[in-house]
Amino acid sequence: EEISVFCPATIANISCGFDVLGVALESVGDEMVLRKTNTSGIKISRITGQDLPLETEKNVAGVAAQAFLQKADFKGGFEIEIHKKIKPGSGIGSSAASSAGAVWGMNELLGRPFSNLELVEFAMQGEKLASDVPHADNVAPALFGGFALVRSYEPLDVISIPSPSMLYATIIHPQIEVKTSDSRKILRHTVQLKTAIKQWGNLGGLVAGLFKEDYDLIQRSLHDHIVEPIRSILIPEFDELKVESLNTGALGVGISGSGPSVFALSKGEETAKKVAKQMEEVYAGVGVDFDIHVSGIN
Ligand code: HSE
Repeated sequence: EEISVFCPATIANISCGFDVLGVALESVGDEMVLRKTNTSGIKISRITGQDLPLETEKNVAGVAAQAFLQKADFKGGFEIEIHKKIKPGSGIGSSAASSAGAVWGMNELLGRPFSNLELVEFAMQGEKLASDVPHADNVAPALFGGFALVRSYEPLDVISIPSPSMLYATIIHPQIEVKTSDSRKILRHTVQLKTAIKQWGNLGGLVAGLFKEDYDLIQRSLHDHIVEPIRSILIPEFDELKVESLNTGALGVGISGSGPSVFALSKGEETAKKVAKQMEEVYAGVGVDFDIHVSGIN
């Protein structure tokens, strides 16, 4: 018995929701094939597309799968094939796609013994291996689909948020690798009250805007006063990408997860494609190599 799984890339943080908000992309992601085996344990049999460890305990999918298996009432095991299309260290949830894909596929093969929320807990173990911190803002949207809000970590509480139908993402990845653990180390541990007020005003506004499909409200809310001012120094031409994308009609622009990818959200695919063109020009002008994607949200 085997299953093929699409494992979506995700944008975490979405400007104002550091560690608590993320969204899954419809057309960017990895593929995995999972098979039930009679022998117990997890075996990663094949990885294509990237040079990643096959040893279960060194691989994020392996670690998430083991967390699942420990809690499952199942004597056998699983064999996992990973076909990576998302580059590790690109900021669009590469490790989350593998962790979430593994536990989602296993759950399907066993007839869904676990809830999505339980799957998020298992997948977070993969994130812990990847970045030292078991953050859920990539694995939650990867498992729930669309936008997901991590209202609380203890206890874990994830809220699925509807995706406005005309929302499209543009994502540009300058070809450098930024490790999440490194880009977390440079953050400050305290926030001024007046800054926090701005941030939670925007996060509330963004969530309300998504529920109401109010694109103006979404636009007014897509700001990050806490993390972006610090992390943007790691990203080539961040200010230029932002200004040009906003001038082209993007609703908002920010750092995707811990970077270096930069995302823009736009109303309508046509605007998202124009934004992509503009971003390409910014990097072509200064000779930065990049990948670029335009995707719906689902
Ligand atoms: N919220 C995490 C961070 C996401 O920004 O560090 C990493 O993908």
